[in-house]
Amino acid sequence: MQVNIPLKKVIDNSYDITIDTIPEVHFDTKVAIVTNPKVAGLHLSYLLSKITAKELYIITVPDGEEYKNQKSIDTILESLFNHRFNRKSMLIAFGGGVIGDMTGYASSIYQRGIDFIQIPTTLLSQVDASVGGKTGMNNSYGKNLIGAFHQPRAVYIDPYFLTTLPSREFGAGVAEIVKMAVTFNKDFFEFLESADLSNPAILQDAIKQAVQTKANVVALDEKEHGIRAALNYGHTFGHVIENETSYKKYLHGEAVAIGMVMANSTSVKMDLMSADEANRVKLLLQKYNLPVSYEIESTEGFYEAFYLDKKSSDTKITFILPFGIGDVRITDECEKEIILDVLGEF
Ligand code: NAD
Ligand code: GLY
Repeated sequence: MQVNIPLKKVIDNSYDITIDTIPEVHFDTKVAIVTNPKVAGLHLSYLLSKITAKELYIITVPDGEEYKNQKSIDTILESLFNHRFNRKSMLIAFGGGVIGDMTGYASSIYQRGIDFIQIPTTLLSQVDASVGGKTGMNNSYGKNLIGAFHQPRAVYIDPYFLTTLPSREFGAGVAEIVKMAVTFNKDFFEFLESADLSNPAILQDAIKQAVQTKANVVALDEKEHGIRAALNYGHTFGHVIENETSYKKYLHGEAVAIGMVMANSTSVKMDLMSADEANRVKLLLQKYNLPVSYEIESTEGFYEAFYLDKKSSDTKITFILPFGIGDVRITDECEKEIILDVLGEF
């Protein structure tokens, strides 16, 4: 005997990403802005001059990747229960990628899912983390190992917030912009080579192009069954570097910058990409003071650490390798000797 539940349906999760000064918006429901003390101190009063709601609450969690954990999620959820949020209530993520990922995750599980909006305040979160619905938190086993795909209802990217961003954090965001260009958009890469991102109008244009590039990929593969994994270009190597340096020496974008250079060197060694193109990527990263080299203590140890990557299986390691600027492919066919050779050159 069988009982069938017909669940085949088309779900429309589409949403708009506004890249401009935040408009004035009123929500006729309970809303909680989730943020941290640093972002609140810098920008909450500006946000409150734009956002109003039937009932508006502020929830703060401590600042930093080390607080992207269950305790902070509990802080958010408990506040929602205390204020009797219901399934029509909404969260607003107001901060960098840490706040965005946690707010999205909390909204994906509170009463089995409520709406949320992303208002990203770092360059990295404006061009990458706030777009595409990946949400989550870290635990003792690693980064972002717990989470859900939960798309925001809207994203408001206001470049004004970037005026207070430290230059290192800005560079880390540029690394993810370069990633978006090298993976999928050669024209965008050429634009970046001559762009002056300290010019606000040009920066806004670059943010738009990065977001559009990512939006196109997410539209094709929302849940990362295939092509979206290419957005992890530079991350396979970068995650090992972050791990080896205990997440202290490099910002995520900085480790990704080194990782992209390592992936490119692998492509050059395998005759997939020209040395000239690899050099152009390196020069662009250096223009924003991003690190492009890393002293490896043990190439064997570095290689073994690839097996901890979410994309790897027990026997195969998946690499995202450029076949030229604007064209990366996902492969698990890299010979170990080639990778060890590349690592040995760093
Ligand atoms: P972050 O959120 O830690 O922000 C970096 C620092 O900048 C923090 O101290 C923050 O308080 C501060 N800050 C935020 N806005 C500021 C402003 N306007 N002025 C001055 N300081 C400001 O780091 P991040 O780089 O924004 O994001 C990294 C996180 O994003 C990681 O946890 C990563 O896993 C996640 N991420 C998620 C995705 C995704 O698709 N969901 C993609 C990339 C990265
Ligand atoms: N940051 C990679 C992704 O969103 O897929």
